[in-house]
Amino acid sequence: MGAVGSKQHARVPKASKLSDVYDDNENSVAARYDTLVSAFKTQFEGEKPKTIARSPGRVNLIGEHIDYEGYSVLPMAIGLDVIVAVSVALKEEGNVEEDEAEATLSIANVDGEKYTPKEFPFDHEQEVDVKSHHWTNYVLCGFKGIFDQLKKQNKLESVLESAFMKRVKKVMVMVDGKVPLGSGLSSSSALNCAVTVALMDAFELSFTKGELSELTCLSERYSGTQSGGMDQAISIMGEKDLAKRIDFNPIGAMDVPLPTNLTFLIGNSCAVSKKAESAHKHYNLRVVECRLAAILMAKHYGEDIEKAKTRVTLREVADLYCNKGDLWTALGAVRKALNEGSYTKKQLENDEGLGDLRKIFDCENNEAFNVVLQKNDTFKLRDRARHVFSEARRVHEFQKICEGQSPRYAVSGPIYEHWCKVIGLEPDVGVASDDPTKDFGHPMYGIGKEDALAKLMHLSHESCKTQYECSCDELDELVDAFMSAGALGARLTGAGWGGCVVAVCESDIAEEILADVKKSFYEKRFQSGVANIADETNLLFKTAPSAGAAILHYDDEKGVIV
Ligand code: GLA
Repeated sequence: MGAVGSKQHARVPKASKLSDVYDDNENSVAARYDTLVSAFKTQFEGEKPKTIARSPGRVNLIGEHIDYEGYSVLPMAIGLDVIVAVSVALKEEGNVEEDEAEATLSIANVDGEKYTPKEFPFDHEQEVDVKSHHWTNYVLCGFKGIFDQLKKQNKLESVLESAFMKRVKKVMVMVDGKVPLGSGLSSSSALNCAVTVALMDAFELSFTKGELSELTCLSERYSGTQSGGMDQAISIMGEKDLAKRIDFNPIGAMDVPLPTNLTFLIGNSCAVSKKAESAHKHYNLRVVECRLAAILMAKHYGEDIEKAKTRVTLREVADLYCNKGDLWTALGAVRKALNEGSYTKKQLENDEGLGDLRKIFDCENNEAFNVVLQKNDTFKLRDRARHVFSEARRVHEFQKICEGQSPRYAVSGPIYEHWCKVIGLEPDVGVASDDPTKDFGHPMYGIGKEDALAKLMHLSHESCKTQYECSCDELDELVDAFMSAGALGARLTGAGWGGCVVAVCESDIAEEILADVKKSFYEKRFQSGVANIADETNLLFKTAPSAGAAILHYDDEKGVIV
């Protein structure tokens, strides 16, 4: 069972009207769907869509780079989404020529100039070409994921043998995306999820939201990043007016109501974060570092080296050895188990006794990890683990404060301090909720919930910047711009190394802050051509929790929604 309020057992809703899904002006949304349908008909010579689905991007409020370590995260779905129209042409019965022809998967985009079309065989076993970063790779991920899920459920054979699948001649997919690419708002997962939901429906299959979240998380790894499941889970399970605490193993989504007097703002740093292209030196390298940290921590706790090498996440090790997963204990343990600075490959393999790292990461079968180990010789473990454990605590604290708990009780600084005394350690400085060494009157004492939430966001950014090293100059500058403009807190959101910042402010000054940030951060970028003024509303905007994935009824006579 997942958490209370979880919707993982439900199915993706079939929307009966556009306002079930969108807050925007209904006419402009309807016009966008009309464009999708007419692009579909033009591209596929008069064929009509059978199914239309949508799935949104997301903004993560707190909990960065900890989903793949097994810890809960706290994102919300945003209004920007990907919409997909799909149809399946079937072979004519008894037509020998058609019977023998190879079935195809044909993919196109409404913006066909920028996102060129591509045709693939209708073959779920084909590989995704990670060396060429074509946008259709994510469509292929979604397609393959459906069959992986069927295999997992022991239904693959029967589905492939069904009369419907045997008659597939051509699967047609038309895409329109509104989530800015490389912005850290998860355009790739929105695409993967929208495609998966649309194909599932067009293939007359049905998976639960939990199954969809898991299968899209796994299928996106075909694109070359070893990402966790946050983006896909919130894209599928997001809901209007609610942020969600997403849990893993098992997957779940718990409702987190946000304070109504606060507004969240998103700003794009204009530094493009190309997750798949730079994975070997950024994202996937961090996944490798965290796993190495987990292995060395398990070894520190006396595990036999061969056993330690099977550990995959930091959470696994903390749950076993750190007072049943107590995060302050885990933070203390990090200092004992892991050296400051970097380890070289040689040190890890010889001095730490891990042997050939390529074997631990199964490099023969995992190209993503293979490239990481080929291209990097140093690995920072202590800082990465510190970030993960302290960030996991901040998620917990953020949720408790949203639920109305006083910041004083949600944040256990003094308990941490007590623990440090018990285990004879200096408390960790500045990584967790704050610096408990300086002031026993913890900074979370005596402040309101708005400031406490903002403070957690601020500390999260600091930890991302200094411990996890996933920020960049532009993100830091934008965080500062929001803060100088009067935001209560601001932090990078998503994988980082470019992409967006999320800021929080009192609702009545949101517009003022946007105007100020436009002046201080964007105007010079519009002038220098780094950013285009025509994209202004997609670069800097207010956001609120939006609906997750949905299937929309398409009626050729009356439009998308009847
Ligand atoms: C990317 C990944 C997520 C998550 C974030 C960082 O968006 O897809 O799984 O790891 O980065 O929090």
